[in-house]
Amino acid sequence: MKLSLPADFVWGAATAAYQVEGAVDVDGRLPSIWDDFCRVPGAIDNGDTGDVVCDHYRRWPEDLAIMKQLGLDAYRFSIAWPRVIPTGRGEVNPRGLDHYDRFVDALCEAGIRPFVTLYHWDLPSALQAAGGWPERDTAYAYAEYAAVVAARLGDRVRDWSTINEPLCAAWLGYLEGRFAPGVKDLKQAVPASHHLLLAHGLGVEAIRAHAARPANIGLVCNLSGIEAASERDEDIAAAKRMDGHVNRWWLDPANGRGYPADMLEVYGVEPPVLGNDLDVIAAPTDYHGLNYYFRQIVEDDPTGPAPFARQVPAEGAGTTAMGWEIHGPGLADLIHRLHDDYGAEAIYITENGAAFDDKVAEDGSVQDDDRIAYFEEHLTAVASAAEAGAPVKGYFAWSLLDNFEWDNGLDKRFGLVRVDYGTQLRTVKASGHFYAELIAEHRNRF
Ligand code: NOJ
Repeated sequence: MKLSLPADFVWGAATAAYQVEGAVDVDGRLPSIWDDFCRVPGAIDNGDTGDVVCDHYRRWPEDLAIMKQLGLDAYRFSIAWPRVIPTGRGEVNPRGLDHYDRFVDALCEAGIRPFVTLYHWDLPSALQAAGGWPERDTAYAYAEYAAVVAARLGDRVRDWSTINEPLCAAWLGYLEGRFAPGVKDLKQAVPASHHLLLAHGLGVEAIRAHAARPANIGLVCNLSGIEAASERDEDIAAAKRMDGHVNRWWLDPANGRGYPADMLEVYGVEPPVLGNDLDVIAAPTDYHGLNYYFRQIVEDDPTGPAPFARQVPAEGAGTTAMGWEIHGPGLADLIHRLHDDYGAEAIYITENGAAFDDKVAEDGSVQDDDRIAYFEEHLTAVASAAEAGAPVKGYFAWSLLDNFEWDNGLDKRFGLVRVDYGTQLRTVKASGHFYAELIAEHRNRF
């Protein structure tokens, strides 16, 4: 497969701390809301937890060797706040910070650019006990944590994501209750969304103030193209509400437009904006991080929860093991939307990938042709957007390793690399070899 992408296009793979690290009680780490949520009966499929998963905290040298083997330019990973400041605020845990310091050194030595995510959902439990994201103080605690990490790693790390998918942290965590901390309350969810955005803005300031080298900073949003299920007025209005809920609620304030007026009405709950919060949230960033998984076809759902719209299956569409529709062109559409409507000057696809029911052959190999086809379709979309002039700078496959897929536990596998959770054996899947060849082919062209 030949893709026409710019010479300096960044090829990467991504993970997140709680999903891969394990070692949850090692070197002074204290629990996060996900450790707690995993203990709630019925919260996670099969009662799985992130206690061990890939043991990446200890086995990172082996995983780094795999990254080198694949030829990655960059690795996107998250720092576990509960390792760095275990109680969320106050005392810094040197052992937690030392771990990431060593890891960043090793990445740099291997010529792999570290893309650091500061928050990928593992809020220290002590902060949830004090109210969690619905509390304004959590945003200030995050800013202190961001400053500590930037001061320590910012001489080598250039690329930062402040918050990963605030939508999931707020809506799934505090509205739908499917994610930690498992709250179902719009009156908490809307303040949580505001404080996550505020944390993003404060984080931008903290990184700029404390990192020793000029930083490349972005907010990472998971966006979905939204289409109405029919031409009925009710469904068209529902699609607009879902677009507000999923896309505009995050993109508008982060890009200086404030909260969308229609959604303020839909929610009927005012975000607790104080002073110059909206300016802080709109702090200039250097790139837009786009996580893309699916589009949504929606219909009116007047008796459901806000935004009173529900997703319906796309007819005849192929789906992944998550039940998500496979729709590559939707990725190109979103890239164009960020560029055309929000003036994005640099866009990284910070996540894209798929879970499939991988079969392990007798010789241990995994021939995941469905995942290869998925990557082909989505990378073709990325290349077409780039050719049409959109500033796409890089792509991170989700994920480097099979890992803990949140409420779905360990069953849903997204990795380029299979992990046997019993033996911790890593096996590069056919999709991993495919990705490595693509990277090599790209390099050889320039
Ligand atoms: C996006 C999230 O950032 C990541 O943690 C998750 O595993 C993938 N989506 C797949 O659901």
